[in-house]
Amino acid sequence: MYGQYNGLIGMSIALGSPKGKSPQTKIHAMTNHTNAMSQHIYIITGASKGMGLEMARQLLKPNHQVLCLSRTASPELARAADVAGVSLVQWCENLADPAPVAQRLAAWLASKKHGRWASVTLINNAGTLGAMAPLQTIAPATIAQAITVDLIAPLQLTAAFLQATEGWPSVQQVLNISSGMSQRAMAGAALYGAAKAGMDQFSRCVALDEERRSAGARIVSLAPGVIDTDMQKELRNGDADLFPDKARYIQLQATGALTSPSEAARQVLAYLHHPEFGSESVVNIVHKRDMLK
Ligand SMILES: NC(=O)c1ccc[n+]([C@@H]2O[C@H](COP(=O)([O-])OP(=O)(O)OC[C@H]3O[C@@H](n4cnc5c(N)ncnc54)[C@H](OP(=O)(O)O)[C@@H]3O)[C@@H](O)[C@H]2O)c1
Repeated sequence: MYGQYNGLIGMSIALGSPKGKSPQTKIHAMTNHTNAMSQHIYIITGASKGMGLEMARQLLKPNHQVLCLSRTASPELARAADVAGVSLVQWCENLADPAPVAQRLAAWLASKKHGRWASVTLINNAGTLGAMAPLQTIAPATIAQAITVDLIAPLQLTAAFLQATEGWPSVQQVLNISSGMSQRAMAGAALYGAAKAGMDQFSRCVALDEERRSAGARIVSLAPGVIDTDMQKELRNGDADLFPDKARYIQLQATGALTSPSEAARQVLAYLHHPEFGSESVVNIVHKRDMLK
């Protein structure tokens, strides 16, 4: 049985945009109409803490339906949804075993099919460092688990999402949360860097596939900058012999260079909702901050 935490308050389902319009036209329609055109679905992984929790919190709006997936649910998020009167569902799922989760997501989306949503968005945000160390020091099971959570789960969830929402009259969007380490090589970062580089490349390829479909999905792999979360703590607490850049991460915190999770979430969501979203398939938020102020 799947674990489930429901903080659910009913919401109405509204009419979406006419079938066959280009994504650009649909976005235009979405932003210019209210009520009937303004219902949106957001699916977000890793929303129990860190930047994902803040993104989910900021997405709690009356015209949104939010589905969160992580190993643990956030009672704080459930309370915030209740207070705001917003539809929130939290599934307790381990993305180290993503196939049944992808299947469950497909079934959930199938149940929403006739809602005619204005937009439906998957945010692959859950992530793990696995181990910051030379590859030969990492146990095979740790390698498999980290690559599964960081790369195979986003691939399988994206596949399920694209298949389940095919033909919907809504705008379809996939936002993959990548990292600067996808492009910047560091000692001790083979595992995490490889997974995030894979995420960037699959986003590029899926973007090309979607361009070939009429009204295909937009997909972006986005590096969110350095954020003050547990993941950063893990980097600072690493073993300098195994991960020599540890000192750089200590310095980043000491000099106040880390972005707060709520500000990072604001920037990422501002980019998701920016008309430019989907025009480039791999993006570093650092280069977009001026336009997201
Ligand atoms: N923090 C940074 O500086 C930074 C920089 C670049 C990129 N990023 C990326 O940004 C995203 C969010 O990072 P963060 O810093 O907010 O991390 P975080 O605070 O460590 O949170 C990670 C989230 O992922 C979920 N998660 C981890 N393993 C999971 C699993 N096996 N199954 C399901 N969910 C799982 C966790 O939930 P549970 O523990 O409840 O499962 C949690 O909600 C990640 O993709 C990360 O790679 C972060």
